[in-house]
Order: sequence, then C-alpha cells, then structure tokens
Amino acid sequence: MKVQIIDMDHKGNGISKLDNKVIFIPKGITGDTCDISIYKNYKNYDIGKINEITKNSDLRKEVLCPYFSVCGGCNIINMDYQEQLKFKENKVKNVFKKYLNIEINPKVIGSIKQYGYRNKITYHNDTSLGLIGEFGGVIDINKCLLVSNKVNELYNEIKELDLSNVKLITIRECDNGLILIVTGKLKIDNLKGLCIEIVINNESVYKKEDGYISIGELKYKVSPNAFFQINTSNICQLYDEVVRYGEFSKNDNVIDLYCGVGSISLYIAKYVKSVLGIEIIPEAINDAKDNAKINNIKNAEFVCGDVSKLISNSIDGDILIVDPPRIGLDRHTTEVINEKKIKKLIYVSCDVMTLVRDIKLLTNYKLGKISVIDMFPGTHHCESITVLERE
Ligand SMILES: C[S@@+](CC[C@H](N)C(=O)[O-])C[C@H]1O[C@@H](n2cnc3c(N)ncnc32)[C@H](O)[C@@H]1O
Repeated sequence: MKVQIIDMDHKGNGISKLDNKVIFIPKGITGDTCDISIYKNYKNYDIGKINEITKNSDLRKEVLCPYFSVCGGCNIINMDYQEQLKFKENKVKNVFKKYLNIEINPKVIGSIKQYGYRNKITYHNDTSLGLIGEFGGVIDINKCLLVSNKVNELYNEIKELDLSNVKLITIRECDNGLILIVTGKLKIDNLKGLCIEIVINNESVYKKEDGYISIGELKYKVSPNAFFQINTSNICQLYDEVVRYGEFSKNDNVIDLYCGVGSISLYIAKYVKSVLGIEIIPEAINDAKDNAKINNIKNAEFVCGDVSKLISNSIDGDILIVDPPRIGLDRHTTEVINEKKIKKLIYVSCDVMTLVRDIKLLTNYKLGKISVIDMFPGTHHCESITVLERE
C-alpha cells in the first residue's frame, strides 16, 4: 500500500496514518512517499516495512552501507547529517515539552566523525556471525561502516573459524590494539597476532598488554569489562561541556557518580579541589585508580559500590556529576540528591526519557542549560548534559 511519512517518532521511525490508524515505519523519513506492507499488526497501531520508496524526502542522503535496509544498527543514517542533528534536537525539545511542560533551547554539538567512530561492537551468532537485523535474526555482513578497518578485518578473520560454539563476539578498539571478548568456545591461535588481549567467558586467556584510550591530555586504561564512551572522536567535546557547565573552582569538592574508569573525574580533576568517583564494576574502579596514577593525578579518589547504597553517606560535595546507564537514577538516589544541599548537579544522560522522569522528581533543583551532544551518528540515540541548580 502507498503511504506518506508525515513525522518521525523519538526512536527514528517514520510515522504514517491510514484509515485513522498510526503506522510506524522503520527507516521512513518525513516527506517520503513509499509502498509498504504491514509487518506487525496491533490494536492501536501497525508496524510497516518499506517495499519501495516512490518519492524521496528532501532530508534523505545516499546510504553507503549495503546492509542498511535489513540491519538493525543505524536507523537514521539515511538522513543528511545536519537533519540527524535537527532530529535529535527536536526529540529532546519535544520530550521536555511533553513531560515537563518546559520549552528548552539546547545547544547542539555534532560528532567529529560520522563513520568509523565506534570503539566497541558486539556481533551475535546464529546461522552466521553478524549484527541483529531490523526485523529480527542476525544479518551476515562483511563490513560495518561504524567501526574501523582494523575491527572489520578481525571480524572477517573470526568468521573463517569454527563458530558452532560461539554466542557473542565483542571487539573493543583501543589506541594500542584490539581486545576480543568471546562468549562461548573459540580456537584463538590465528587471532593472537591481531589482538592485545583475548577474553573468553570472562577469563583473560591471552594478553600482550592492557588497552589504553587517550582523551585530550589523559590516557585511560580500559579493562574488557569496564564501560567507556563508544565514540572516541567526540569524548573531548562531551567532557569539555561538563567542564564548561561545571564552572569549577579550586574550592570545589566534586562527586562523580557512575564514574566508569574515572573518565570524567580525572578529566575535571585539574579544575577542582577534590573529586570522588563511585562505580559498581570492580575492574572499572581498579582502572580508575590506575588511571589516576598513570596521569599523575593526586586529588581523585575512587570507591567501588552501588550508588543507591552509598549515596546517603558519600555525598558531601559542592558539585555532583551523574552519568547513569540508560535506566537513569533509581528512586532512592533521586530522593537523597533532592534532600542534599548540592550547589549544582550536572546530569549526563544517554536517554532523554529517563532524564525527564528524574528531573521531575528533583523538585528542589531548578533547570539550567542543556546541551545535546551527538555520540551516536546514524542512530536515533543521543547524549545530553543538563545543569540543575539548587533553588
Ligand atoms: C553511562 S556509564 C558512565 C561512565 C563514565 N561516566 C564515562 O563517561 O565513561 C554508566 C556507568 O555506571 C555504572 N553503574 C551502573 N549501575 C551502577 C550502580 N548502581 N552503581 C554504581 N555504578 C553503576 C556502569 O558500570 C557504568 O560504568
């Protein structure tokens, strides 16, 4: 059936209407006219699948990836990059308006790289090793444009091996080489020359050296299990924005909750009196402590534990930085932050829906400035930094 895409939802799906029923159409862009079939049928809406685009939206651009129509990876890489940024800006604006009834005017910062930016990728294995498809299953690919040639080469070497007992393969790219993380069983003899470390089922079975990623003046050790921002090219822009909003002084004691390998803590350490980072993954906290030493930073401390359990005692700072996972802050943490007299809260978020939910609960804080930073070009995901000040 022939439909027109009239808008896009916050997940980057095209929206159309037929007989008053909404149809969400993955990879459809506002302004497209296309021929679709209904892929899934629900009571209040349908999900459509594009068979053919009969008229291209002006917002489209040429897609360089041959797997785009079937791969579930980058869903808006078919939009001109400036339009991708506008999409993300509007998404954040609309969510603030809808859930907080606040009009915002965020600063938008694009990504330095639009391709080859990902320092980590996970491949799934069923009949072949590849990426999860848009409509389920695993898509067998030769190359993903979001990772470097080195990562694509290692992936293709792995595909030559017996993968019958492999579930997942993750590759992380550090400045000094690749870390391979395997879930399952894999014969790795041919891969040793291509990796600095190989981890199988959480056990390091081969290690030439630790992995390091440099951001600005700092060098970070990143263990296989530790979180690190995905888009290496844009991390400086993200952390510089934290520094800008922090307006730090040498009198400030800062708490960095969900600190990972100490990346933000150590980046801001030179501007403040002290910084305390809290993180739940022991390997990440060990990295954070090592990273303080590697970079000769003396005013940063790190504690391993669950933020929600440590929050009541640990918060005694002037400025609080939170960078939680997609689920946002838990209820208890939000309540404690709301009660404590923190001068300024800097909320780094990778999910605007949980961000607004948390802001709604932080009633003792007034909303300040917001920046949207594109850490995930080609996808609908977006990172933001919001400043909240004590009323
Ligand atoms: C989005 S990452 C941010 C890491 C770091 N700020 C950065 O920029 O690299 C979220 C971090 O929170 C950690 N985390 C998740 N749940 C946690 C919890 N309940 N308590 C402490 N840390 C947690 C994760 O392990 C992860 O390192």
